Parts: sequence; C-alpha cells; structure tokens
Amino acid sequence: MNEVVDKALRGMALLKVSNIRHWTDRTFSFAAERPAGFRFRSGEFAMIGLMVEGKPLLRAYSIASPAWADHLEFYSIKVDDGPLTSRLQKIAEGDEIVMRPKPVGTLVHDALLPAKRLFLFSTGTGIAPFASVIREPETYERFDEVILTQTCRDAGELDYGHALVREIREDELLSEVVGDKLRFLATTTREPSEVMGRMTDWIRDGRLAEATGAPLSPETDRVMICGSMAMLQEHKALCEEAGMIEGSNSEPGHFVIEKAFVD
Ligand code: A2P
Repeated sequence: MNEVVDKALRGMALLKVSNIRHWTDRTFSFAAERPAGFRFRSGEFAMIGLMVEGKPLLRAYSIASPAWADHLEFYSIKVDDGPLTSRLQKIAEGDEIVMRPKPVGTLVHDALLPAKRLFLFSTGTGIAPFASVIREPETYERFDEVILTQTCRDAGELDYGHALVREIREDELLSEVVGDKLRFLATTTREPSEVMGRMTDWIRDGRLAEATGAPLSPETDRVMICGSMAMLQEHKALCEEAGMIEGSNSEPGHFVIEKAFVD
C-alpha cells in the first residue's frame, strides 16, 4: 500500500464484504466483517464507504445487525449520481469497504425512558437501525409491545422488512425472546397494496390508534423515528403534540430521531 493511502486510512478498518443482496433497483444490503474489538449498541451508526482516488469517501450508515452478531450488516439506497452509493452498489463478494470504527447514535435504549410500548417509525432505508433494534433482546426486556412501521413507495421495497421479520420468527433463540411482542406494519404510498398510506396520516386520522389499541401517549409509549428530513420533522411534531419530549444519550426522553442515509 502506498504512503498516501496508508495515511488516509489511519484509524480506519478495511472490511471484506459478503452476502450482497439487491432487493429492488433502489435498495441493496450486504454484510461486512466485524473487526475484533469493535463494540456498538444496537441502533447506532458508523461512517462507512470506499477508497476513492486514494481517499476514504464515507457516509453515515446505520448498522442493521444487532450488537451480538458476529458480522455487520448494512441496508442501502442506490442513488445513480450519489458520490458513494453509485459506487457502493457495484461492490462484489470479497471487495473491501472502509469503516471508521467509532459508532454513535440516538436510536438506542439509553436515550429512552422505560415504558410499555415501543414504536419504531421508518420510511425506506430508515428501517436499517430498527433491523438492529428488533433483533436486540434488551428491546423485549424493556417493552411489552414493539411496533415497527415502514412506509415505502412500492411493495417491493417492503421485502427487506418482511424477510427480516420472517427470519426472526424462524430463529429458534430469537423467536423465544421476541414471542408475540413484535408487530410489523408495512404500508405503501404509490403502488396499490394491502395496507396503504403514510404513517404520519395514520397517526393524525386515528388509524394507528385503532390498529394498536390506543393513541400515542407519553405515559405508555416510546418512539424511535428514522427517515427523510421531512418525515422526521412531521413525526417529531406529532410526538410533541402528544406531549412527548425528545430524548438523548445524556438525557433520556420519550422519543428519538435520526436522519436516514441520503446519497
Ligand atoms: P409519498 O410516496 O407519499 O411521498 P422516499 O422514497 O421519497 O424517501 O419516500 C419513502 C416513503 O416515505 C414514501 O412512501 C413517501 O410517501 C414517504 N414520505 C415522504 N415524506 C414523508 C413525510 N413527510 N412524512 C411521512 N412519510 C413521508
């Protein structure tokens, strides 16, 4: 390795990629080696990317695998002219990604006060951190009900979430931990499907309260939100209207938000 690249990589880990899966023409997932000693909390993100012209090109990616897993998993959008994803979508088995091994994030249990129900609201690839959280046993120790929602334009984009929930139900150990506490509410907005509509609209018009038994309340519920900036702002306003207070790692509260990866 030449000196310039060597310098650019200081503090970074190079991780071999495997299990690449293209879910739709807009989304794909892959696994990467977990460096020895790399610890993170389920729901956190790390900076990952590729070496481009001798320099690391990094973006924040939620780690979709749970903290106990021996590999790291990522779920990504493909943006044709996106500086990173236009390249990352072409990775092949055995190629290497770069990671800065300093995980951070607010979609973690430490940022939420105890309660009865946990709502995980996502759109598109915003489901990634929740793929980690719903496979984390602590989630089911802390909450009686876990309601994951994902809203996408098309039904095909919901396949990743459906496969994930199926995997949990078929896993001998996890299914025992999860029991009947996990629910997945998957909706589309553009392609007709069984269940349609933005979750923000479901909250406003009472469909979510009807589907889950009660409206959002700071007394009983905690919320994690991950999606686009506009989606986060709308969900945040709805949480605040319900009387909820935003939490952080230093001051746990009723809801937490994080922007999903964009390009
Ligand atoms: P819609 O089709 O009505 O725009 P995108 O692929 O653009 O990131 O969108 C992913 C999903 O998020 C789409 O189903 C989209 O619905 C929905 N969405 C977009 N903006 C918001 C918002 N402000 N609040 C809730 N859902 C949103």
